[in-house]
Amino acid sequence: MIVAIDGPAASGKGTLARRLAAHFGYAFLDTGLLYRATALHLLEAGGTPADAAAAERAAQRVGGAELLDPRLRSEEIGRLASAVAVIPAVRTALLEFQRRFAATPPGAVLDGRDIGTVVCPEAEAKIYITASLEERARRRAKELRDRGVEAIYERVLQDMQERDRRDSERRTAPLRPADDAFVLDTTALDAEAAFVIARDYVVKRRDAR
Ligand code: CDP
Repeated sequence: MIVAIDGPAASGKGTLARRLAAHFGYAFLDTGLLYRATALHLLEAGGTPADAAAAERAAQRVGGAELLDPRLRSEEIGRLASAVAVIPAVRTALLEFQRRFAATPPGAVLDGRDIGTVVCPEAEAKIYITASLEERARRRAKELRDRGVEAIYERVLQDMQERDRRDSERRTAPLRPADDAFVLDTTALDAEAAFVIARDYVVKRRDAR
């Protein structure tokens, strides 16, 4: 059973995906980490996203202990991740790892931007989770402050808008709901309410198999 969760930055994908995985006893993969790890490898190799071959080499190295590196969570790495994510060779290099993970029995939950459209178009359950830009910026600013990072709301909002635009407008695997995705707008929902709705949807899809 594959559960694909896609959506823009700070839409609540990670929280929801993790809870669904725990609830159903499925494996969980935050695919954003793979792009973040690519960015980190690239940075450490002294490369830039303008060098597609260096970015591809960085992506080929992904899949080890670096996925647990706390530096992956910084906004700088997030920005760089979205820049390497436009490179088709980077996306191809990360595809195999994601597909293998998705096949974990008895099920896997993957969250990202293109899980329901490109990585696992065959997923039995697809949720596209979203929220207004302002609400997402508010959540991300709070998340940063909770981690002790200084965050200016306007700056976070601007960064997020820029990243959304790049993710949605890129030619390879742009951010968009799959035709058969269940769209869940969490602007006015808390994490618990979103979880209950998503859980009921996944149960229905699982039982319909
Ligand atoms: O948590 P947040 O939404 O801020 O970021 P993330 O999920 O860690 O993803 C970081 C960046 O990686 C995104 O802005 C995307 O450009 C890219 N990404 C992607 O292209 N495809 C995925 N399946 C996951 C992430």
